[in-house]
Amino acid sequence: MKQFPKTKSPCNLPVLKSVGLPSDFLEQEKDNKSLLCSSSKYNRLVLFPKLKNKILLAPMHNITNLAFRIMCKEYGAGLVSTELLSANAIARRNNAVLKLALTNKKEKPIVAQIFSQNIENIVNAAKILEKDFDIIDFNIGCPSEKIIAQGSGAALLKRKNKLAKIIKSLSISVSIPITVKIRSGFEGKINAVEIAKLCEENGASAIIVHARTVEQGYSGKADWKIIKNVKDAVKIPVIGNGDVIDGLSAKQMIEQTGCDYVMVGRAAIGNPFIFKEINEYLKTSKIIKQTAEEKIKDYFRYIKLTKELDIFSVKDAKIQAQYFTKGFKGSKNLRRKLQKIKSWEEIEKVVREIGSISDEF
Ligand SMILES: Cc1cc2nc3c(=O)[nH]c(=O)nc-3n(C[C@H](O)[C@H](O)[C@H](O)COP(=O)(O)O)c2cc1C
Repeated sequence: MKQFPKTKSPCNLPVLKSVGLPSDFLEQEKDNKSLLCSSSKYNRLVLFPKLKNKILLAPMHNITNLAFRIMCKEYGAGLVSTELLSANAIARRNNAVLKLALTNKKEKPIVAQIFSQNIENIVNAAKILEKDFDIIDFNIGCPSEKIIAQGSGAALLKRKNKLAKIIKSLSISVSIPITVKIRSGFEGKINAVEIAKLCEENGASAIIVHARTVEQGYSGKADWKIIKNVKDAVKIPVIGNGDVIDGLSAKQMIEQTGCDYVMVGRAAIGNPFIFKEINEYLKTSKIIKQTAEEKIKDYFRYIKLTKELDIFSVKDAKIQAQYFTKGFKGSKNLRRKLQKIKSWEEIEKVVREIGSISDEF
């Protein structure tokens, strides 16, 4: 089985180990009890768009920038997403975060993913983003300790009243679809079905289920049964996520869960071609692979795009060089060299050398 690239938790923050929320959040939950009940009959008419195929790119911190998204789109991704963006920072019009929210028409339809627990900022951010984006995805799956300590990300899986209020406020404030990216729940408290229904009742147009618990972070197997349970419980489209790495696993997820779409995360890192591979497999059952030469070409295309879009950095070029050449035969020493070098010219030379000695990977 193909190995995923080694990754830290998104945002390079440690994944939550012990579960607990600050007591003032729990107080707020009590105050908001009535909200959940009053919103439970709320129905929203904004439908999730029909996409050109079933295979979508997952939001990934430091990976799904505009250049990478354009390449995934060119290789046939049905939908692409920004990485997790702080709604607080967007509402404050923080330049660094607004730069991460740059988009262009080549990648349409396009999703902006946001997180926060501050409703005013969430709504303001969504209003800013709706001018350029087609869908707003609200993250309640991020397992980073820092984000959970703020009461946002995966903490909202436990804050049902607050979550209901956020999704309802978002849905009535913008005219584009709102999706919610959830996890299975916490260990000992798997509540994906309950959370998905709550989001649907409050106006979400689709649900993305990353079928791992918060404590699992990115390790262990995703439990696809949770995706099936959610699919059986809601009427809005369900997007399954977790452990899809090729055409066969995509097909199996669709067959086993009945999900409407499949979202691919780590298997797309350094490998935007995966969207072509999976779509081809779903159509013809044929397995198509890239040659080492084609992968090197893709790496340079990625770099060219980052330069054109003014998002090039040596640090990213180096990291991506390792991702795009992962598994190349005979290039171990050269790949090790990549870690030490400091300029783009040196990176380019080493990547070309890797390409010249590897005809397969
Ligand atoms: C490097 C990295 C960054 C990620 N960043 C985000 C993010 O910004 N927002 C989010 O919702 N999920 C994020 N995720 C989770 C993925 O979207 C996805 O849910 C997860 O990797 C499971 O899918 P997979 O098994 O196909 O990799 C990230 C995952 C990785 C590996």
